[in-house]
Amino acid sequence: MHKYGGIEIMSEKIAIGSDHAGYGLKCEVVKWLRENNVEFIEMGCMDGSSCDYPLVAKEVCGKITDGTVNKAILICGTGIGISMAANKIKGIRAALCTDAYTAKYTRLHNDANVLCMGGRVTGAGVACEMVEIFLNTEFEGGRHQRRVDLITDLEK
Ligand code: RB5
Repeated sequence: MHKYGGIEIMSEKIAIGSDHAGYGLKCEVVKWLRENNVEFIEMGCMDGSSCDYPLVAKEVCGKITDGTVNKAILICGTGIGISMAANKIKGIRAALCTDAYTAKYTRLHNDANVLCMGGRVTGAGVACEMVEIFLNTEFEGGRHQRRVDLITDLEK
């Protein structure tokens, strides 16, 4: 548990990764995570040199599927490619978010375990606000659990 602005952040530890196009925004988010004492594993592109976002998605989501973390953040240029790749992996519900509302509702209704963002689309302020909300909002369950289960059925 961590505190941010009087709010408790519930994720114990997360994974974060980006390709080259998301690298700048990843650095901003990593700074925010450090400032807010959120434990994280940083993966993927470690500088601005070119790398392939599907491989980053695979590496980062692997930390969820092996049980090391329960949530992750992925960033590419638009957030689209890396979310497409992540959603091919069993057990991953990756949501491309662009604002506080989508970050909140993808936790409440979709139980998303990966927040995807576009480094060429979203500024650092909005991104960090989304991260705070994503880490701090619990799944609502109820009728949404049935729908999430139906998504899981599509993996079979
Ligand atoms: C890389 O140039 C770019 O294509 C990638 O970061 C991403 O936006 C793909 O969806």
